[in-house]
Amino acid sequence: MSIDSQSSSEFTPEEVAELVKLSTPKHVAIIMDGNGRWAQAQGKPRVMGHRAGVKAVRRVVSTAREMGIDSLTLFAFSSENWRRPDKEVTLLMELFFTVLQREIKLLHKNGVRLNIIGDISRFPERLQKQIASAEAKTADNSELILNVAANYGGRWDIMQAAQTLAKKVESGEMNSSQFTEEALNEHLCMQNQPEVDLMIRTGGDFRISNFILWQAAYAELVFTDTLWPDFDENAFRQTVAIFASRQRRFGLTGCQIESMQAQK
Ligand code: IPE
Ligand code: IPE
Ligand code: MG
Repeated sequence: MSIDSQSSSEFTPEEVAELVKLSTPKHVAIIMDGNGRWAQAQGKPRVMGHRAGVKAVRRVVSTAREMGIDSLTLFAFSSENWRRPDKEVTLLMELFFTVLQREIKLLHKNGVRLNIIGDISRFPERLQKQIASAEAKTADNSELILNVAANYGGRWDIMQAAQTLAKKVESGEMNSSQFTEEALNEHLCMQNQPEVDLMIRTGGDFRISNFILWQAAYAELVFTDTLWPDFDENAFRQTVAIFASRQRRFGLTGCQIESMQAQK
């Protein structure tokens, strides 16, 4: 597996365990890309790739739980994906519906709280209802928060928060000096969750495709050539180990970080 341009060799399972223990990301976000190419490479229709992708979702959810990650955010459908052929969009909606129906019991049993982020008002009504009931059923779970980004766009998220605040200013509920970074934060999706520590993109491309922007301002990025349906538990653990092996500086110097760590 070729992962991350900066490290060509894999970590051993012992190294992975050691690194993950040292620094587990609280919030991991994944751009699950490459389903279509995975299917096409096998001469199958693209939709087979989306179906195979569901298995990979199951694997990362259970691995995230095992690793003690608090929030896992998966990019399932972007605000730009409506541009795909109608047939593919319809199939994706159907798949979303059946997967929700099928998986919710197991998610609930495993203590996973499901949270859909994105503008779901454009989805078929029965899907919207299904989402509401799945969220309500799992609302009190605390093992892992699983955010599924559906009709999500990073710009949309920032805009909807800004619009809510603008309306509050307009109605006199707050004044414009209260329109601060913190106030905007409070109106974004996932406002009560840690910011994204690690953002992974499978499928070989190096872009964010309008996924989480604001909340990923200081995320570590890991890109892998592995196509989403092939992204297995080992691949996921490797990316988390890459995260843990990096020095996050948040604007400070490396020396400052080292002396802070020495004082701990
Ligand atoms: C990602 O896989 C899943 C969705 C966008 C729904 P793609 O469908 O984009 O797969 P590729 O990139 O065409 O291989
Ligand atoms: C990003 O993948 C969206 C999801 C994974 C849901 P795309 O395949 O849509 O991204 P682009 O179009 O290649 O940037
Ligand atoms: Mg793609």
